[in-house]
Amino acid sequence: AATKQYKFDVQVKNVSRLCHAKSIVTVNGRFPGPTIYAREGDRVVVNVTNYAQYNLTIHWHGVKQLRNGWADGPAYITQCPIQSGQTYNYDFNITGQRGTLWWHAHIFWLRATIYGAIVIMPKPGTPYPFTQPDLEMNLVLGEWWNSDVENVVNQANQLGVPPPSSDAHTINGKPGPLFPCSEKHTFVMEVEFGKTYLLRIINAALNDELFFGIANHNMTVVEIDAVYCKPYSTNALLIAPGQTTNVLVKANQAPGRYFMAVRPFIDVPIPIDNKMATAIFQYKGIPNTVLPLLPQLPLSNDTNFVKIFNDNLRSLNSPQFPANVPPKVDRHLLYTIGLGQNPCSTCLNGTQFTASINNITFVMPQTALLQAHYSKINGVFTTDFPDRPVKSFNYTGAPLTANLGTSLGTRLSKLKFNTSVELVLQDTNLLTVESHPFHLHGFNFFVVGRGVGNFDPAKDPAKFNLVDPPERNTVGVPTGGWAAIRFRADNPGVWFMHCHLEVHTTWGLKMAFVVEDGKGPQQSVVSPPKDLLPC
Ligand code: C2O
Repeated sequence: AATKQYKFDVQVKNVSRLCHAKSIVTVNGRFPGPTIYAREGDRVVVNVTNYAQYNLTIHWHGVKQLRNGWADGPAYITQCPIQSGQTYNYDFNITGQRGTLWWHAHIFWLRATIYGAIVIMPKPGTPYPFTQPDLEMNLVLGEWWNSDVENVVNQANQLGVPPPSSDAHTINGKPGPLFPCSEKHTFVMEVEFGKTYLLRIINAALNDELFFGIANHNMTVVEIDAVYCKPYSTNALLIAPGQTTNVLVKANQAPGRYFMAVRPFIDVPIPIDNKMATAIFQYKGIPNTVLPLLPQLPLSNDTNFVKIFNDNLRSLNSPQFPANVPPKVDRHLLYTIGLGQNPCSTCLNGTQFTASINNITFVMPQTALLQAHYSKINGVFTTDFPDRPVKSFNYTGAPLTANLGTSLGTRLSKLKFNTSVELVLQDTNLLTVESHPFHLHGFNFFVVGRGVGNFDPAKDPAKFNLVDPPERNTVGVPTGGWAAIRFRADNPGVWFMHCHLEVHTTWGLKMAFVVEDGKGPQQSVVSPPKDLLPC
């Protein structure tokens, strides 16, 4: 195993897109930021220096950070922010993982421009468990706002309204030629007829789940969230913010130019075809004058496609890569996901949007929770997060606008070391039903079941897939439905869980688990690094 050293200088840079120039916060002046390359078993050290005026942290999304939450990154959860002028070293090992993950800023909405890919190659001499590709390519999907994103969000919060949608989606930072002034901001992938490509697709968008496709070309999904899966051939993908999907594509069509395109999955039909972010899959030797073809993507409200797509994702579950689903459950949790509107005296229209899990709206602490847990500092958090909703109701019945006694708090759920946990994430019709990509830090989990309506503890568990369920770090909870996940609490520390739609995280759709130390060797949180920052 090797040590991979990276230097991330966070600095402001002027960038123009869609005929607008603005300054954005970047890593090393690049947008998207640099790719981290490592091999399974490597140690990675990223030296981050903050030359910008914002406080920030960086999260290595999907890296398990065994016993080492100090390198996980969510601000005020595992560390205090890196203030302007400060440096912090993210020092972590990549253990038992290989595949595509990504990194992003984890404070406010800074991840709008601070993000990049993490590519973890298998150990030397270990081939992929699928056709070896001739070439690999990262496709990082994102969102672009013409205005300053922090201002946009602050303004919306002051008004008590949801922030506006982005002005464009992007592929590797570029919206593509269907947008004004964007001819030169088009990502072109040159391909050779007959060759097989591995696309590492990352959804780094803030608020949109995205469909992705390539005109005339089928894709075979071989990996999701850095876990190999059973090969699944499809002409379109659904990928939620936080998720990664690797696909194989064979350049086997009439040599030409083909659009790769994204369209948001947003539960309502809107005419947006003129606003599709595109990149070009271009066969070698074809002149740039040939007009590219657009792929047929599912419509923006095609929930049925999403269901079928997700149902077809299964763990590879081979002898070499078994799916170690916890067979029995020590702790059953049911968390409701609710949006709502609360009175707000400082907001211009008197109300503000909130979100809650089990009726608790999470309040960010002033000190990092992991530090408070490790150093036994009292008064920072409590461990009385309810295992099920404070008030039970018909979750997905008629729309409810009352917030059902939602309260504020920095309440955590305490898990005993190595217990196996089953968590049902239940969408509710508070305000409106919506699809929510839930991300758990510090773990992968198995998605053992999903369904529409209310989870039925008497009937639904009988239908769970405990053989080859998909193993991921971010699960799409279906609109007006539920998802059941299982994981083993074998990673001591404090681990954030939240909806990966930034707008919902802002409103409070987040909580954290504290996993206690075990009694044996190598079962407790490692000691903090020397350069740990104070808040
Ligand atoms: Cu990718 Cu807590 O996030």
